[in-house]
Amino acid sequence: KRVVLAYSGGLDTSVILKWLQQTYNCEVVTFTADLGQGEELEPARRKAEQAGVKPEHIFIDDLREEFVKDYVFPMMRANAMYEGLYLLGTSIARPLIAKRQIEIARQVGADAVSHGATGKGNDQVRFELGYYALAPDIKVIAPWREWDLTSRTRLIEFAEQNQIMVTKDKRGESPFSTDANLLHTSSEGKVLEDPWEEVPDYVYSRTVNPEDAPDAPEYITIDFERGDGVALNGEHCSPATLLTKLNELGRAHGIGRLDLVENRFVGMKSRGMYETPGGTIYHLAHRGIEQLTLDRGAAHLKDELAIRYAELVYNGFWFSPEREMIQAAVDHSQAKVSGTVRLKLYKGSVQVVGRKSPNSLYSEKVVTFEDDQGAYDQRDAEGFIKLNALRLRLLGRRDRG
Ligand code: ARG
Ligand code: SIN
Repeated sequence: KRVVLAYSGGLDTSVILKWLQQTYNCEVVTFTADLGQGEELEPARRKAEQAGVKPEHIFIDDLREEFVKDYVFPMMRANAMYEGLYLLGTSIARPLIAKRQIEIARQVGADAVSHGATGKGNDQVRFELGYYALAPDIKVIAPWREWDLTSRTRLIEFAEQNQIMVTKDKRGESPFSTDANLLHTSSEGKVLEDPWEEVPDYVYSRTVNPEDAPDAPEYITIDFERGDGVALNGEHCSPATLLTKLNELGRAHGIGRLDLVENRFVGMKSRGMYETPGGTIYHLAHRGIEQLTLDRGAAHLKDELAIRYAELVYNGFWFSPEREMIQAAVDHSQAKVSGTVRLKLYKGSVQVVGRKSPNSLYSEKVVTFEDDQGAYDQRDAEGFIKLNALRLRLLGRRDRG
């Protein structure tokens, strides 16, 4: 009996590690993914060793490049945003963790996998839909749905009884729930549970307060090739490096803070705070280059698909035929999405202030309010409007007298 646990080294998964060993009397294999959460991962190794996990059963993998290249960038090509605002920073990481966990399970001959998501949220769904899609017969252990540690208070008691370190936050309280990776940090619970209360300053961890950001704006450029960012300020960089650098810029200018009440897949509303500094810049930049290079029909269809795509990612259906179908359409649309976007970062805001592309569909000659030298015949608009007006006029005569 062997189980692969998605293990962050934090309080919850440390308790789960102990609980799995005690309850199932099984051998626990830990898997810790480096997704750019900005934490030391060696402590996770030490904690796992202390809990009796064999050294060859401690997996710590740097998945940052794969995360950005194969998950974040494809999602950004779609301009996906859940409920119009959320850039899906947690949602998009789960399928990658699930995929690697299943690979490890195969490698060590484990018959079960486990995760630390609660029974009330989205993450349980995302992890488990990933597991079942990739290993249809895997056994899933979700301790939060099984044990009698029914509150954070009970969890902390269990930790203290089992010599598991409980780190307190800056205010000496037990920490609220956070999740971090290269794309974002999310915070939920505790003070945030009252949606009328403004998020206190101490909850923010990776952006300066826009009010304290520099008084001078900063201009940057991002180069795109076929829908993906490839360079910052003219300097070529890998996907993970680009996002890392954009995170630094976003942090300094206080960009990408979001206070949101959202609809969880399981049916309840929840209030959370997100910081997505680099992702917010990147998302807008991608839209900036699409403005020049996508035809209206393609662009508007993409906007419709983006809503479905976001919902699929949010609900955990990354490994689904419908997500792959939309992805294929989105990727097809990106063939000409190349060029450079210039952005202005200033006190919590990011604006596109310039864009250029060898594939631009923008024609100054056609659009100009000056003499267009015959590029466009204004008289054509008369028939265009008259035919479009035809049914409105018929309706008008009937209904408005
Ligand atoms: N509500 C976000 C989502 O469903 C974040 C969930 C995880 N965040 C957390 N603080 N535990 O994607
Ligand atoms: C959790 O339930 O573990 C976090 C919140 C969520 O997944 O929605």
